[in-house]
Amino acid sequence: MVIELTGVRKTYSGVRSGRTVAVDGLSLTVPRGGVHGFLGPNGSGKTTTIRILLGLVAADAGEVRVLGARVPHELARVTGSVGALVESPQLFPSFSGRRNLQILATLADLPATRVDELLEFVGLADRADDRVKGYSLGMRQRLAIAAAMLKSPALLILDEPTNGLDPAGMVEVRELIRALGSDGRTTVFLSSHLLAEVAAVCDAVTILRRGQLVASGDVAEVLAMAGGGGQLRIALRDADEAGRAAAVLGEHGISAAPAPPAGLLVASDDGAGVNAALGAAGIWARELAPVRPDLERAFLDLTADGEAVL
Ligand SMILES: Nc1ncnc2c1ncn2[C@@H]1O[C@H](COP(=O)(O)OP(=O)(O)O)[C@@H](O)[C@H]1O
Ligand SMILES: [Mg+2]
Repeated sequence: MVIELTGVRKTYSGVRSGRTVAVDGLSLTVPRGGVHGFLGPNGSGKTTTIRILLGLVAADAGEVRVLGARVPHELARVTGSVGALVESPQLFPSFSGRRNLQILATLADLPATRVDELLEFVGLADRADDRVKGYSLGMRQRLAIAAAMLKSPALLILDEPTNGLDPAGMVEVRELIRALGSDGRTTVFLSSHLLAEVAAVCDAVTILRRGQLVASGDVAEVLAMAGGGGQLRIALRDADEAGRAAAVLGEHGISAAPAPPAGLLVASDDGAGVNAALGAAGIWARELAPVRPDLERAFLDLTADGEAVL
């Protein structure tokens, strides 16, 4: 496991706002490899959790391990293997992208070839000698990710890295993250409040709501959890036949709702059973398909009473 949290809790006390439970008994494990999404609406505790992982704030309770090291006591042992990008990146705007990376590489005792490698990897090789102040936000963010990657970390933590980027910048950064996750050496822990981003980039996801875990697993698994029960969409000849089909299914204890113009939404995932019941009554469905809840639905279901910001 690259990240292990057990019963982690963090409360802030503000003068005006009183006590805020930012992270509320969070237990979470992230296995090695791929991109793990950390999805939750704004204010759900993502940044606080990440700051705890990096030893930037102390948890009030619970156990935290990063790459096997207990945080904060043993964190120093693994800091060379953890790269992070939290909040806005610290770059020197009047230096070139290459110079920025060179300074960091020198501090970390890394060879200059590593800088070239990374400039190439993040797609900045041909702009490497331009000043950072002339870069787009997407380019700056890719440079910041290159900086976090300098030490070839086993774990790369990115806190909402596409925040504030224009759509083109978002695409660039997402492609970069996907490439990182598929190279096999680095596990990426990516926080986001954007469902589409997690769906596009991540292999696994943990969904957070008010500092608590609401779901965790493969993206497909989490979908299945939220979609529990299953539904079928059936197409019939016309509204009239749909009405009769609903009545027939009702006799079998299966509830069905009209899906105009000539369909039904059936609360069952037993396609064969539904088909047989209708066929026995002389009704032949023209189409019968499982309704796959998408991640958006899952997220909204799971965070139902939170004001999901999407
Ligand atoms: N330094 C702080 N002092 C007081 N409250 C804070 C502080 N940082 C975060 N919070 C509160 O903790 C909660 C979680 O915030 P945060 O971890 O930033 O969530 P997210 O990153 O998911 O948006 C929010 O209610 C936020 O207002
Ligand atoms: Mg945040």
